[in-house]
Amino acid sequence: MLLAEKTAEKKIIFSGMQPTGIPSLGNYLGALKNWVSLQDEYRCIYCVVDMHALTIRQDPAALRAKARELLALCLAMGIDPEKSLLYFQSHVPGHAELAWILNCFTYMGELNRMTQYKDKSLKHADNVNAGLFTYPVLMAADILLYGADLVPIGDDQRQHLELCRDIAIRFNHMYGDVFPVPEAYYGKVGARIMSLQEPEKKMSKSESENPNNVVYLLDRPDTVLSKFKKAVTDSGSEVRFDPDKPGISNLLTIYAAVTGADAAQAEREFAGSGYSDFKRRVGEAVVESLRPIQTRFDALIRDKEALDGLIKTHAERANALAGRMLRKVKKKIGYPI
Ligand code: TYM
Repeated sequence: MLLAEKTAEKKIIFSGMQPTGIPSLGNYLGALKNWVSLQDEYRCIYCVVDMHALTIRQDPAALRAKARELLALCLAMGIDPEKSLLYFQSHVPGHAELAWILNCFTYMGELNRMTQYKDKSLKHADNVNAGLFTYPVLMAADILLYGADLVPIGDDQRQHLELCRDIAIRFNHMYGDVFPVPEAYYGKVGARIMSLQEPEKKMSKSESENPNNVVYLLDRPDTVLSKFKKAVTDSGSEVRFDPDKPGISNLLTIYAAVTGADAAQAEREFAGSGYSDFKRRVGEAVVESLRPIQTRFDALIRDKEALDGLIKTHAERANALAGRMLRKVKKKIGYPI
């Protein structure tokens, strides 16, 4: 049986990540960590969404390298290629084909409301391309192409998933039950990891202004410790969750997410600690959680042949699965047979 094929017992999971930089701790705690833990219970399909990355100008050689690194990092984190599919979006033309069809079932007004589009068009005012505008439709196509039931994402993708659901419902209404209507899956903690220097903004892997805002998964221990040492804190001296303490709350969230503690446990552990001791211990916990991932990554990225083999077989399997849904959709909408 094909990997990730839907069975009576297991639901389908789909998620994607852009290869626009080494993933941040936010990507890891908000999404990737859940990708790993969901593998046993679900049929999982994970995608390095290189087509999405084109909405922002990319250097070709760097894009190719980053896509490969992201795929290797997914394996290093524990995505098991025997259980889950892992492939490059551009290797499966069905994403683009379905996106075109769904574009014709999505309204300009819906896309105009997308807050990420508004943010990105301000940030990249010299390149507000049509791809940036229709990006959420490609994302909907990614998900619906495999009939996914659940989509593990961080909080910033909530609006895009809502739109995907609306498109699926609209399409089903016109053509019968073609797509399962997918649900978002958020982890218990970590769905919104904030910048270390500006805790009112999300931690973003494409952040280039100040490298101390972001911890990258391949940052080595000294760098990680130094970034946490410099993390901004708040007034007062108590380590506890508090909306008036966004810096401390973010660090507590990170600590809880990497150690598996719940929020109350994390607070208890630091009762009576000063801020600098607290920041050092959070940094150390992050270093320990990244260490095994980095060791595995170094080995995986060097083994070119094994990685190439996996990329090829997984793309073939993804194409086979995507083909089934596309055939069904094309028949429904009336393309000539
Ligand atoms: P991307 O590449 O920006 O981020 C990948 C995943 O990481 C989550 N994330 C965060 N979670 C918590 N805290 C943060 N600071 C943080 N930053 C990022 C994101 O929510 C996301 O889950 N459009 C998507 C990629 C995509 C996709 C899909 C996702 C394309 N097709 C289909 C799911 C299903 C994006 O740009 O994610």
